Amino acid sequence: MTATTFVPKTVRVGIVSGSARVVRVGPQVAAFVRSIIEEDLKESPVEGFELEFETIDVGALNLPLYDEPGIPSHISPPEGYEHEHTRAWSRQIAALDAFVFVTSQHNWGVPAGLKNAIDYLFKEWQGKPFVVVSYGGHGGGNAAKALQLILGGGIKMRGVENTVALSFPSRDILGKATRGEDLGLPPPGSEPTWQDRKGDIAALWRQLVGLITTPVENK
Ligand SMILES: Cc1cc2nc3c(=O)[nH]c(=O)nc-3n(C[C@H](O)[C@H](O)[C@H](O)COP(=O)(O)O)c2cc1C
Repeated sequence: MTATTFVPKTVRVGIVSGSARVVRVGPQVAAFVRSIIEEDLKESPVEGFELEFETIDVGALNLPLYDEPGIPSHISPPEGYEHEHTRAWSRQIAALDAFVFVTSQHNWGVPAGLKNAIDYLFKEWQGKPFVVVSYGGHGGGNAAKALQLILGGGIKMRGVENTVALSFPSRDILGKATRGEDLGLPPPGSEPTWQDRKGDIAALWRQLVGLITTPVENK
């Protein structure tokens, strides 16, 4: 008799840092969010699943302003794309199963670089679960709402109703953020920022886990 070994399902989660500014704190915020998720996973592993994480810094992709001649929803990826930068981006996103979008807010909206990166693709995102964490002077909640509509409505990803909005605790921190300086996120410094929001981020993560582990009905 041969013994059957249980193989957990591997789920690859992309943590997308949406800022594309030349100086940016997005990657710091994304690292903070990822560290909370990894901490939560140690406490509460997802049975039957092996989770892997990849952080994507949209600013480092250096994607030009959308320059494909076609409409991504009509294209078979990645061969259908004209440009190699689109094919590379397509392969990167196609290989991921779920997403945590970490976004700042530009004039109450989604930063243009993130919108541009999203718009390049369609089928690579479609149907995959996501959650949104925003940050800004007042938490960036308008960008989060707009992003929920783009991803959940336009692209038909699977989201949850709520988001987590992280407000810079002072004008001093907002200034530091805008200059792309160290915000005192982990490893914990003397004045760590947003330590009181870890529970909210972990709770949002568990909602994403709920989507990841819920089979989708084929319509
Ligand atoms: C063009 C621009 C528009 C901005 N608009 C907003 C805004 O609407 N609300 C807000 O809270 N912060 C706003 N900010 C401040 C950003 O929250 C802050 O600069 C933050 O550091 C941006 O994130 P990043 O460093 O990851 O790019 C804006 C910043 C820029 C550069």
